[in-house]
Parts: sequence; C-alpha cells; structure tokens
Amino acid sequence: MKVKTAEFVISNTRVDLCPKPEIPEYAFIGRSNVGKSSLINSICNNKKLAKTSSTPGKTQLMNHFMINDEWYLVDLPGYGFTKTPNHLRMKWQNFTRNYLRSRENLMCVFVLLDSRHNVQKADDEFMEWLGENAIPFVMVFTKMDKLDPRDIEGNVNTYLEKMSEKWSFLPQYFLTSAEKKTGKEEILAFVEETNKTFVKPDPNKVW
Ligand code: GTP
Ligand code: MG
Repeated sequence: MKVKTAEFVISNTRVDLCPKPEIPEYAFIGRSNVGKSSLINSICNNKKLAKTSSTPGKTQLMNHFMINDEWYLVDLPGYGFTKTPNHLRMKWQNFTRNYLRSRENLMCVFVLLDSRHNVQKADDEFMEWLGENAIPFVMVFTKMDKLDPRDIEGNVNTYLEKMSEKWSFLPQYFLTSAEKKTGKEEILAFVEETNKTFVKPDPNKVW
C-alpha cells in the first residue's frame, strides 16, 4: 500500500467523540519517547503530521489521522514515563484503556518497543493487559538504526525468548527505524491485508 493522503482529523480524550467507527482503525502505543509519533510520520511521509519531541510525554491526547480516505491511524499518549505527574498518568491511562477496550473498528494495536532494551515492566504489563482484554496486537521494535547491525538478531531473539516464557504463541513483530524509514512497507502491507477483514459495525446500533 502506498500512502497517498494522510490528514489530521481530531484530537480528544473521549471515545464517544472519536470519528464514527465506519472504517478500520489502528492504534500506536508504547512507552513515552519510544518513537510512536516519529514512526507515524515516517509511514505517512510527512515529518510534521504527528508532533514529536525529545522530551517524553509530548502526545497527551488521542489523535486520529485519516489515511487514503480508507483507514484511521491513531497516535496515543505514551505510558511508563515516571516523571509525568501521577494524576496525569492515571488520566491518560484511563482514557486510553477505555478507548482500547471499546473502540469497535479497532483492528490491531501496534505496541512499540525500543529495540535497544529487553522486556521492560511497563511493556510487559501493558501487553498482558491487552491479552486479558482480547485486544489484538503486534510488536514494533523501534530505533533499529541505533543498534549495531550485528546486534539486531541477538537482541530481537532475546526479547522473543523472554516473551515466550509467558505467551503460548508470540505476536507478529516488525523491525523499524523512523530515521532510516525501514519497516514501513511491511507495516503498510500488514494494514492492507488486515483491512480486508474489516466488517463495518451495525449503523443502527445506539452508541
Ligand atoms: P511521546 O509522545 O512523548 O510519548 O513520545 P513518542 O513515542 O511519540 O516519541 P517521538 O516520536 O516524539 O520520538 C522521541 C525521540 O526519539 C525524538 O527525539 C525522535 O527524534 C527520536 N526517534 C524516534 N524514532 C527514532 C528512530 O527511528 N531513530 C532514532 N535515531 N531516533 C528516533
Ligand atoms: Mg508522541
């Protein structure tokens, strides 16, 4: 799939104010500063679409982007950043989890993981929560350009081995770098395939 158009639609904290769930949707989430907004920009060929920052906690709302007039991509606030005041972290967590649990057109969550680290507690707990709530997800390793190419395979395998201690089958994963624009074709191919399985929610349902 080629991204021909990518437009910002709306920012909010409430699921009932999100666009009507008439087309497939994919959410990007991960620890603060993992590179969510940068990867979205790389996928959409637009450096200014999602706001990025070297200071964690930049994205504080759910941001909907419409891609090719066909599907939504959602940038979510990060989790696990200890310097964010507790009340803010709880607020982000509440609306994000509420959204993830109830959004009917959500096809898959992209959980972004920093490829330089092994399994982190916040990621582990979050993926466990997704599993408990039967929310489909894939893993996206970010910032691959920061790794020595010789270390990539070893790091990923170590991560997968740790995951397999807990999970009976491992989620699909992608290796990406927003800097080098790697991994985006694979992610777009996955979205294109998954879009084919979308079933439009019943419009007569009362939201
Ligand atoms: P929050 O919105 O604060 O949760 O952060 P985020 O996950 O959206 O991260 P963001 O995209 O703002 O990137 C955080 C920092 O990492 C920025 O300084 C980016 O330039 C840098 N960064 C993101 N992706 C990459 C990458 O693939 N390679 C390198 N080298 N740096 C990256
Ligand atoms: Mg962000």
